[in-house]
Amino acid sequence: MRSRGKFSTCCANTSDTNSAYTMRIAISTGGGDAPGLNAVIRAVVLSALDRGWNVLGIKRGYMGLLGEDDVVPLTRESVRGIQHLGGTILRTTNRGNPFSYPVLNADGSMGEVDRSAELIENARNLGIQAFITIGGDGSLAIAQQLFERGVRIVGVPKTIDNDVAGTVATFGFDTAVSTALEAIDKLHTTAESHDRVMVLEVMGRNAGFIALHAGVAGAVDVVLLPEIPYDIERVCQVVRDRDHSGRKYTMIVVAEGAFPQGGTSSVAGVSLPGQAPRVGGIAGRLANEIQARTGKESRSMVLGHLQRGGMPTGYDRLLATRFGGAAVRAVADAHWGHMVALQTPRIVTIPFTEALKETKRVDPRHDIVLTARALGISFGD
Ligand code: F6P
Repeated sequence: MRSRGKFSTCCANTSDTNSAYTMRIAISTGGGDAPGLNAVIRAVVLSALDRGWNVLGIKRGYMGLLGEDDVVPLTRESVRGIQHLGGTILRTTNRGNPFSYPVLNADGSMGEVDRSAELIENARNLGIQAFITIGGDGSLAIAQQLFERGVRIVGVPKTIDNDVAGTVATFGFDTAVSTALEAIDKLHTTAESHDRVMVLEVMGRNAGFIALHAGVAGAVDVVLLPEIPYDIERVCQVVRDRDHSGRKYTMIVVAEGAFPQGGTSSVAGVSLPGQAPRVGGIAGRLANEIQARTGKESRSMVLGHLQRGGMPTGYDRLLATRFGGAAVRAVADAHWGHMVALQTPRIVTIPFTEALKETKRVDPRHDIVLTARALGISFGD
């Protein structure tokens, strides 16, 4: 049975939801979705049930605890067959910050209200004793604020951008790179067939990990990152040099947040209240500039949300499962205010504050960048 705003947790009559549980936890998924979310949910639910705990699922970030969506019991049946599914059975939102909840003012302007006390009270009324929140930097910042208000909460880092500090990888990243690489392989053939410049835009607002990993793995000619502002003339020189050497096509991968030296990233579309500004459109801008400066026929493509969908890779399914199991152990060990993190070869827990200190970004001295340059890949600088 599900409830919308009534917070009733009358549950299906199964052994997973009898009243003799030793602890009741709640799990939520926030921010952009990522392949692997369902594998985390499944691992949390099965690990918790193995301890005799009871699990509730909060729909759409924290909306289920604000009367804007449901709170549902999660049982073995709930998570059966979801390991390989993209998306999240709990759904998500990147507009649900309970501390600055978007509201429409009487004068028609948009405002924000703090609904955190309401959330905490509703959780108490449901008998929720601890939270496991799965999210990126935005969700982890909310979790830190809840922790500071006495909420017992553990985090699982999630983003295809892989820009959460303190963890070698976040689940979703490997799948996004695989999706981008598949696109690069396909674009190589059409670019070569037409002697064209092909510019592929991938996700990565502040960090260019997807562009870097997929670009190097895909043996492209130019990789443009937010961390290394580019000189359009340098990019065009790569095109000209390749042309003169008989390699009549050029493959360029650009992170959506990349920008020219002295410039700013491209804005694409209008974001809604409570959402981060939307970046994008750099690929089309670059293709037009390159064509105008070099005379080479240029085309562009934005991979967009294809990188957020689909079935998680085996690596992401395993990492997500490891994170879910570790999060339940962190709850059992009362590591409140901590998130699980991959610090190869182990999964550890680190304070939210450590993860939130800064956004993890590509280090221009990283071996992948150094090797890419040695192989002749240009970063436009
Ligand atoms: O943070 C993950 C991410 O996919 C970014 O790479 C991208 O810029 C953003 O989310 C897109 O957000 P939305 O789904 O709101 O368009």
